[in-house]
Amino acid sequence: MPKEQIQFVCQCCGAYFPGWQGQCTSCNSWNTLEQESVTKVEFSTAFQKKRIKSEPVSLGNLVLEKEEVIASGIKEFDNVLGKGFVKGSCVLLGGEPGIGKSTLALQAAQQISAAGKKVLYISGEESLNQVYFRAKRIRKDSSDLMVLSETNILDIIRVIEKYEPDFIVMDSIQVVYHPAQPSVTGSVNQVRICTNEIIRIIKERNTVCLIIGHITKDGSLAGPKVLEHIVDVILYIEGDRQQQYRLLRCFKNRYSNTSEIGIFEMEQDGLIEVGNTSKVFIDEVTLANPGSVVSAVAEGRRILLVEIQALVIATGYGMAKRTFLGVDPNRANLMIAAIEKILGIRMADKDIILNVVGGVKIKETALDLGIIMAIISSLKEQSFGHKTGFCGEVGLTGEIRAVPHLERRLIEFEKLGFSSCITAPDKNHTKNSSGKMKRIYVKDIKEAMNTVLS
Ligand code: TYD
Ligand code: MG
Repeated sequence: MPKEQIQFVCQCCGAYFPGWQGQCTSCNSWNTLEQESVTKVEFSTAFQKKRIKSEPVSLGNLVLEKEEVIASGIKEFDNVLGKGFVKGSCVLLGGEPGIGKSTLALQAAQQISAAGKKVLYISGEESLNQVYFRAKRIRKDSSDLMVLSETNILDIIRVIEKYEPDFIVMDSIQVVYHPAQPSVTGSVNQVRICTNEIIRIIKERNTVCLIIGHITKDGSLAGPKVLEHIVDVILYIEGDRQQQYRLLRCFKNRYSNTSEIGIFEMEQDGLIEVGNTSKVFIDEVTLANPGSVVSAVAEGRRILLVEIQALVIATGYGMAKRTFLGVDPNRANLMIAAIEKILGIRMADKDIILNVVGGVKIKETALDLGIIMAIISSLKEQSFGHKTGFCGEVGLTGEIRAVPHLERRLIEFEKLGFSSCITAPDKNHTKNSSGKMKRIYVKDIKEAMNTVLS
């Protein structure tokens, strides 16, 4: 019998340690180390010699069939994936509890099943009753969809081997366990071993598995950072649970790009695709208030108009507080520093809260000018966001840089009836124009502020 070995694994980042310690030195989180058992398998020298050695092949000599794809039938979903689920791939779908992961996975399973494929929906979290009623609510007829309520990975593998489905949904990976593993269900070790088992079988049988995973408070996939390396595609659903819109974003894709997003609306009968996205992230009522402006960001082939809200107040006591929701904190801090230094407005004694409406998270730097203008609007208690749109990347010296796809962004503003848009000139747009919508090109944030306040 090989000697049993024990190690301590951080449940947050998956780093190993020989002994217990209070803080993980890899990701700095506290009290996340848990004891797990690892049994080393020792190979004899005779066994090593007998192994068949792998041989490399030249790509030119490889004759492979075309990549086969299973389309989910949900256009927004397929767009994010590229064309659909590539056969033999493992797709991880993450998101906060209650955001709609199970709903989207079930909808895809129903559509694929209705298209004549063999689909197995494995629900470890919900009972068959719950799945039945949810399925009925979403789609009237899904009689061919096979459902399994099971959490033992060995039984799950047995069912997959017996029924040979084309498409599998695993809801969720945190509740399945391997009986031969002593670690608790949901621990890094269990999640990693179960995912490896699933990946082994789907690669062997060339089927597809959509794995659902929970995320932690800080937004990363709960426990298994390690999972991100072994799956082929990682998708996240984001949005505000209190509101109806949901964004499907791709974080990693071995078969296509990761720039496309899918936009859905949570309705009584499941997630509905949103065709016209112009007004999705804008609240026309609050837009007339000081502290609220609209900016245009590019997400894949789409241009989204998003509303940024700022609330600036005098600090009550101690250090000034900064709360950023939906914007990149580094960019936001940079913009605040630019206001202080270049516009000469003291910000160190002010609390600042920034929020992007609709729970959407924006990384694009085209939002920079919008952030600055929202803060100025709140600070001066003047509203200009309902008439003027803003778009541009701001540099450290306060200069505004041109953004890609400027014309498409300007057209979006025009469509929504904005009377003007302030942005940076690019090689095709240099002269201010006063058509249906005034296009005002400015060089730096000083000029932009003077334009709106004049
Ligand atoms: P769910 O898919 O269970 O979330 P997750 O699997 O990510 O935890 O969705 C939960 C929420 O979605 C729930 O609060 C109710 C809402 N919902 C609807 O509004 N309409 C529907 O048709 C369905 C199925 C769910
Ligand atoms: Mg669920």
